[in-house]
Amino acid sequence: MTTTAVCPGSFDPITLGHVDVIERARTMFDNVIVAVAYNSAKQSLLELDVRVELARAACQHIDNVRIEAIPGLLADFCASEQVTAIVKGLRGSADFDAELAMSLMNRHLSGVETVFIMGDPRYNHVASSLVKDIARHGGPIDELVPEAVQRALENHFQR
Ligand code: PNS
Repeated sequence: MTTTAVCPGSFDPITLGHVDVIERARTMFDNVIVAVAYNSAKQSLLELDVRVELARAACQHIDNVRIEAIPGLLADFCASEQVTAIVKGLRGSADFDAELAMSLMNRHLSGVETVFIMGDPRYNHVASSLVKDIARHGGPIDELVPEAVQRALENHFQR
């Protein structure tokens, strides 16, 4: 049986921490779909199509990885794609607190389990929100995000 993991997130923007989780998910599943979605609790800086484009650039070195925009419910997407599991990275207990309810709700809605991967300690401090704040103030983000994201954020804040 072919297995498919979905790595969902707002990816606003995708960071090296996200890419690491996607690479590691790919070692456990035949296919990985990176699902770029809306988080109604967050105000996005980048439009959905830009976040998708940047995720695509960041993952082009990984085979059997597809990037999709999810305008609706993740659970509906999982059902339509016959997903094996949702995969998310955890950096610490704050991430766990936020993820617990979502994982239980997604299982309630779709029956799909969420599998958690512990984030690599190299990226424990890396968060999209911090990256955006650093970029807004002209600080260095080259060790935190893929090159395409660095260029996009620099352009965004130079405008
Ligand atoms: O990177 P994030 O912001 O932690 O990811 C959260 C995200 C986008 C995966 C979550 O908000 C989501 O699944 N959004 C799609 C809409 C949905 O399914 N909402 C119900 C979640 S239980």
